[in-house]
Amino acid sequence: DRAQIGVTGLAVMGRNLARNLARHGHAVAVHNRSSGRTRSLVEQFGHEGTFLPAETPEQFVASLERPRRVVIMVKAGAPTDAVIEEFAPLLEPGDMIVDAGNAHFADTRRREAALRERGLHFVGTGVSGGEEGALNGPSIMPGGSRESYEALGPLLEDISAKVDGTPCCTHVGPDGAGHFVKMVHNGIEYSDMQLIAEAYDLLRHAGGMEPAQIAEVFRKWNTGRLESYLIEITAEVLAHTDPATGRPFVDMVVDQAEQKGTGRWTVQIALDLGVPVSGIAEAVFARSLSGHAALRAAARDLPGPSPRRADSVDALVEDVERALYASKIVAYAQGFNQIQAGSAEYDWNIDPGAMATIWRGGCIIRAAFLDRIRAAYDADRNLPTLLVDDHFRDAVATAQDSWRRVVTLAAQSGIPVPGFSTALAYYDGLRARRLPAALVQGQRDFFGAHTYRRVDRDGSFHTLWAGDRSEVNG
Ligand code: 6PG
Repeated sequence: DRAQIGVTGLAVMGRNLARNLARHGHAVAVHNRSSGRTRSLVEQFGHEGTFLPAETPEQFVASLERPRRVVIMVKAGAPTDAVIEEFAPLLEPGDMIVDAGNAHFADTRRREAALRERGLHFVGTGVSGGEEGALNGPSIMPGGSRESYEALGPLLEDISAKVDGTPCCTHVGPDGAGHFVKMVHNGIEYSDMQLIAEAYDLLRHAGGMEPAQIAEVFRKWNTGRLESYLIEITAEVLAHTDPATGRPFVDMVVDQAEQKGTGRWTVQIALDLGVPVSGIAEAVFARSLSGHAALRAAARDLPGPSPRRADSVDALVEDVERALYASKIVAYAQGFNQIQAGSAEYDWNIDPGAMATIWRGGCIIRAAFLDRIRAAYDADRNLPTLLVDDHFRDAVATAQDSWRRVVTLAAQSGIPVPGFSTALAYYDGLRARRLPAALVQGQRDFFGAHTYRRVDRDGSFHTLWAGDRSEVNG
């Protein structure tokens, strides 16, 4: 008997995906560069389903039914290229290589084009949900050809998370679309985490609350419109006591946030596409600032304001909840705009509502809120920004006084809230009838004759700044 699908690369993510497939009744070929991992998978979890262990790539390929479905789960970059080169020569036209790692979408586009030349399908697939999701139901974002999705989709949908019976998996679009969407997912993840962290910081330092009390606040928020996996785990982390010292766990962790690169990619690509994802950018920069230990040590005695406390803790909690919700709407609005811009740039025809649908479960940013986003894009697929959807417009309208109070209090107390404040600046920037960009245009024209457009006439103009200051056509 042959396997319906194979997984090569059996570190924890690959192993868990293979187990998930086997638990759903699919025979899975399994292979790892060093065969110890293959053996231990079968020894420990062989009872969960049908595994066909292979010692060599040749054996692995021979054990797969056709068209072959080969899932590779190895480190992004050179290791992925090496594994592709190992397996592609053994495959036949119509077979599929699925890259389920966190690859850069530009690499995925390159690999897809190269393998297409060789008659093979290459399916760059975003998988979110960490180890636990891979085992019990992740959110899956496959790119690649429509044809490959027909052969692969049913298997992937089967092992994905389900919300109201709907799988958290759909064909995102051709070539690199799946990895692009996964990248933006991670960018939104960074920004959501940063906003939650700022909410905690405000409650702690402007509210004078202890981590355990703040955990209770997050638990309560998690029963409302902020209900999400990230809020839920934040409460868990804040409630945790360090066993060694008996102090709050969060106080015992070095305050330098690390990153593996997907958030940075999101911002780099957003800069190229010209999409202002300021919330994601501030989240990446906040992690980066936190990591500059020597710089922070040099600056730690710089003067700040005298500490201020909020007048009422209850009112602060309510204000912060609203500020968090409004900022979160902005962060998602920016991320979805980046998906739309990428889709337009690369002709992917991505349905934003479908992305919100597959993010409702399984992934790190899963949240009740995504149902609202889905509804917004179902009502208007070409919505210019989530902020103008009726539901979100009303939510921000109700939240904005609180939002402004929170940003003001933070500035007055010297508490850094780059996420909250950039979100508010973005909102006010979009709303503005007139932006000082007009003055920037004047400055550019003054020093570099870069020209400007006028509000009252078509064309491009230049003022003779060094001469008689008359205007000429630019
Ligand atoms: C997921 C996660 C996963 C991982 C990221 C974040 O969707 O399951 O996003 O991909 O946790 O790589 O990693 P960093 O915070 O280390 O960049």
